Amino acid sequence: MTDLAVGVPRAAGAGQAPEPRVLDVARVRADFPILRRQVRGRPLVYLDNAATTQKPQAVLDAITSYYTTTNANVHRGVHLLSQLATEAHDAAREKVATFFNASSSREIVFTRNSTEGINLVAQTYGRWRVNEGDEVVITAMEHHSNIVPWQMLCGERKGHLRVAPIDDSGELVLDALDELLGPRTRLLSVTHMSNALGTINPIPAIVKMAHAKGIPVLVDGSQAAYHMPVDVQALGCDFYVATGHKLYGPTGIGVLYGRASLLEEMPPFLGGGDMIRSVTFEKSTWNELPYKFEAGTPDIAGAIGLGAALDYIGSIGLEAISSHERDLLTYATAAVQEVPGVRLIGTARRKASILSFVLEGIHPHDIGTIVDQEGVAIRTGHHCAQPVMERFGVPATARASFAMYNTREEVDTLVSALERVRTVFG
Ligand code: ALA
Repeated sequence: MTDLAVGVPRAAGAGQAPEPRVLDVARVRADFPILRRQVRGRPLVYLDNAATTQKPQAVLDAITSYYTTTNANVHRGVHLLSQLATEAHDAAREKVATFFNASSSREIVFTRNSTEGINLVAQTYGRWRVNEGDEVVITAMEHHSNIVPWQMLCGERKGHLRVAPIDDSGELVLDALDELLGPRTRLLSVTHMSNALGTINPIPAIVKMAHAKGIPVLVDGSQAAYHMPVDVQALGCDFYVATGHKLYGPTGIGVLYGRASLLEEMPPFLGGGDMIRSVTFEKSTWNELPYKFEAGTPDIAGAIGLGAALDYIGSIGLEAISSHERDLLTYATAAVQEVPGVRLIGTARRKASILSFVLEGIHPHDIGTIVDQEGVAIRTGHHCAQPVMERFGVPATARASFAMYNTREEVDTLVSALERVRTVFG
């Protein structure tokens, strides 16, 4: 195992500051059953965490236990199981609020994923606030899910989409962003961390810049939230979206944080049961926050699974996770660069857990196929960020992405597999 496997947290003595927690990677790996399986006759080396992370036993148990003992619909019955299901669902929302340090769980809306969170804001806040000639600003490093909803909105409302540029290292050009934020800008929507480059954006400074001009900010936290502590109040943003399946939770559950004062004013998203206070054929009125934005039976088991995942992350500690992953990224960056013909795509000063690269003369899909023969899972393609590929003049990249359970030995396996790719195509 790695030289980071050096122990569990120690309790601080009276009057002492608590010692920083250190991640015990062997112990963490034991919590993820899938890591025990073999792929193509070799131990699985899972380096596709930016696509989705694996699930600890605690999450699998929480979902099974819910369906085995508690399954009922929420907010709909006086019977015991319905009450228990409602309590468990509410408790999951409280955990999310605590995880992101929202000032209240009223500010946490459950969605299917980050994409749905962004679409929710585009279709409610956007349709309400964006009129002919108004602008929405995004950046050149966005995932398609933070481009297309705004294109659709601007098309419908006759607005304009403006795009802040990035430099050759994959960093946002802040002066250019500042210039784009103008009197017609109704929203800035920006990623916290790029899924294709790994760049971490300086969100507090960006929010300050936008707020100085009265412009609200949506932050896409899909990639950031499982790598670093996120405090929406400290960031100062107005909306923050994240997805459960990257936070070691199940697929099909996501989170939208919205500032309560904005959520109160916004029209609802989907219409149906649970989002209403009253319905007549003439008129309906809306439920209180956050239910106004949650029509229909929610993904109850998904929310409970996500709550268990956040508990699990809390038991390891995001600071410890960040530090372990930082070590892996530094180690992997140096090792992969040693492979002849490698060009890194994304060399920002502040990066996390993502190593995107191309190998001269070899298509990324061929890289992915050959390393898969060695049991190594990486993603190859445009990563749902075609404009990023265009910016760097490549059709696709190979991307290794790290999570809390990865090790330096796994990076070594990747590098050996890349050397085999070179031999095959050399
Ligand atoms: N957005 C995810 C990725 O980057 C799916 O792979």
